[in-house]
Amino acid sequence: MDLFSTPAPESARQRVAELTKLIDHYNYEYYMNDQSLVSDYEFDALLRELVELEKQYPELSLPTSPARRVGGEVNKQFKQVTHRFPMLSLGNTYSIEEIEEFEARTRKLLDGVPFTYTCELKYDGVAIGLTYRRGQLVQAVTRGNGTVGDDITSNARTVGTIPLRLHGDWPDDFEARGEVVYPFEPFEAMNRQREADGDAPFANPRNAASGSLKLQDSAECAKRKLMFCMYFLMLPPDAPQQSDPAYATHSGRLAAAKEMGFKVQPYIKECQNIKEIKDFIDYWDHERWNLPFGIDGVVIKVNQTGLWDRLGTTAKSPRWAIAYKFKAERVSTPLTEVTYQVGRTGIVTPVANMEPVWLGGTTVRRATLNNADFIAKLDIHEGDSLLVEKGGEIIPKIVGVDLEKRPEGARPITYATVCPVCGTRLVRSEGEAGYYCPNQDGCLPQILGQLEHFVGRRAMDIDSLGSERLRLLYDAGLVHNPADLYDLTAQQLIGLGEGSASSIQEKGAINILKALEESKRVPFERVLFALGIRYVGEVGAKKLARHFGNIDALMAANVMELAAVEDVGEVTAVAVFDFFNNAAHRQMVERLRAAGLQMESVDTRVGNQLEGMTIVVSGVFKHFSRDEIKASIEQHGGKAGSSISGKTTYLLAGENMGPEKLKKAEKLGVAIISESDYEAMIGEGGEK
Ligand code: IVH
Repeated sequence: MDLFSTPAPESARQRVAELTKLIDHYNYEYYMNDQSLVSDYEFDALLRELVELEKQYPELSLPTSPARRVGGEVNKQFKQVTHRFPMLSLGNTYSIEEIEEFEARTRKLLDGVPFTYTCELKYDGVAIGLTYRRGQLVQAVTRGNGTVGDDITSNARTVGTIPLRLHGDWPDDFEARGEVVYPFEPFEAMNRQREADGDAPFANPRNAASGSLKLQDSAECAKRKLMFCMYFLMLPPDAPQQSDPAYATHSGRLAAAKEMGFKVQPYIKECQNIKEIKDFIDYWDHERWNLPFGIDGVVIKVNQTGLWDRLGTTAKSPRWAIAYKFKAERVSTPLTEVTYQVGRTGIVTPVANMEPVWLGGTTVRRATLNNADFIAKLDIHEGDSLLVEKGGEIIPKIVGVDLEKRPEGARPITYATVCPVCGTRLVRSEGEAGYYCPNQDGCLPQILGQLEHFVGRRAMDIDSLGSERLRLLYDAGLVHNPADLYDLTAQQLIGLGEGSASSIQEKGAINILKALEESKRVPFERVLFALGIRYVGEVGAKKLARHFGNIDALMAANVMELAAVEDVGEVTAVAVFDFFNNAAHRQMVERLRAAGLQMESVDTRVGNQLEGMTIVVSGVFKHFSRDEIKASIEQHGGKAGSSISGKTTYLLAGENMGPEKLKKAEKLGVAIISESDYEAMIGEGGEK
């Protein structure tokens, strides 16, 4: 190592201060004023430099450093925290009459005292409370049950619109409450990526926001591009600002928060009377589809915070505020045709094609009919008009049939009996809602789907081959199944798809061949996953690979032996058995083996020091990531357990260990060891 290139601590300290100031400034301009003062590239370079410096000198890493924005802290379990002030919810209603009643009641209770209302958006996300002390974010907690929530501070720090350090004047001690939302654009991009990776997409942005805040690895959360919409600034009763006129109204408090660096949405209106409230509601009921994030209603609050106590609260919600919720938009439109889509594993999904209709900001032409049971349950007939809804979900849903519009003599939909692509008779396994096409190796969407799965990131990771290129290779008659990929030559590839966006030039061809060559090092368990056997996901593939050790033992196993593997059920066992009982599949495996792919698990063991021990890990470690420490346990002959039981030998405790695990270990008398104890235990092997 070149010692001279390591900055001396004083210069490091200076550089950290400099970078922090610069990055904070760029961040502020970006989020508050929508201005990029530097290119993404330059920004990333500065941030990376700061992250590296703080890694090298952890004592320079402050909890409010912008380097925290990239995440890195890992939380196995989120600490439970009791809210200092309970997080109440709001009374809500779908009826305008109830809003009128709320307004009249409030006016009556306030008995001639002058006051106004604020109307603002009801953000559709996850409620959190952020505690700030002396201008710094100290804790972020989810709403939970209103009394106790989860401490998600490390994930919250990665949300760009949550300030870590405040600007200007701020109360010494307060809580900023608001909703973390997942804006539509990054949400859809993330879902597309998940589908490409073979992960289940999230149903809606709210679920995705909630899932993201609960990610154990905050670096993953940082990638999610969440947004914080503040709706409340809460002061403790003895705060000096309680008597400051600037803090005497809800709108004033939000304006103050904006000055501190919170991104406060501009869509807030002070209203004098019910007419203005109703106008606000009507406006946003239509306009909501033009927002970059989801809302599910409007919140109306009494603006003068000094009147809140006078109005009081009921058991669950304050009397000084109410939420009006938008109804899901629903339209009726004629069904023109039911078509069928065939997925990678042959599953056939019926799709309703309808007369185009305007719904919630987009034109809807198609919507899924899920499966044969769904069509039967709704009793859909030919020519029916379907009721389509769009609620918080962006995807339109078919919710029923408009029976009044059913044409005379209409016949019920008869479900397809043959595959719409290859004409093979469809089959339905017992107990399953869906039909599938069994022609795995001759049905185009299945062939292409299998190829896409095979090259996927979690499988063989051949990223120079996307779906368009695979289609090119198929159309050129070069690739029909995964084994064909390994017979490709540069000559065959160069010039393919001339004139199209996915055309392959010399450099592209070299990249493809290189990636194919590299894929020969991909471990057996991923090769097994890449084969795309029905029901065999990543975990199942791992378990099968470990249990059988190599492809020959796996191919020779009967259903009973397969079902005996941990986490492999009977349905999967039958699917695996059927897969390898197919001569074409066996031939493909042989060709892949001949091409040099890994067909057996490699014993990664480096020692036997932990033989017979089961070790449960908890918390964060200095020298290992969680995956690394688990792998290390196995490499030294031990078993990495997931929960503490009578069989646990040790609880290996890192920093911020969950209190539950500790309690359980103490109760069962399981010995607790530290990271350095662990290193000493395996140290004899001489390797980490
Ligand atoms: S005010 C004491 N304002 O809607 C009441 N809530 O039950 C404080 N929400 O889970 C809430 N947008 O998280 C308020 N502009 C807004 C809001 C909002 C969304 C959520 C809130 C709560 C639910 C109301």
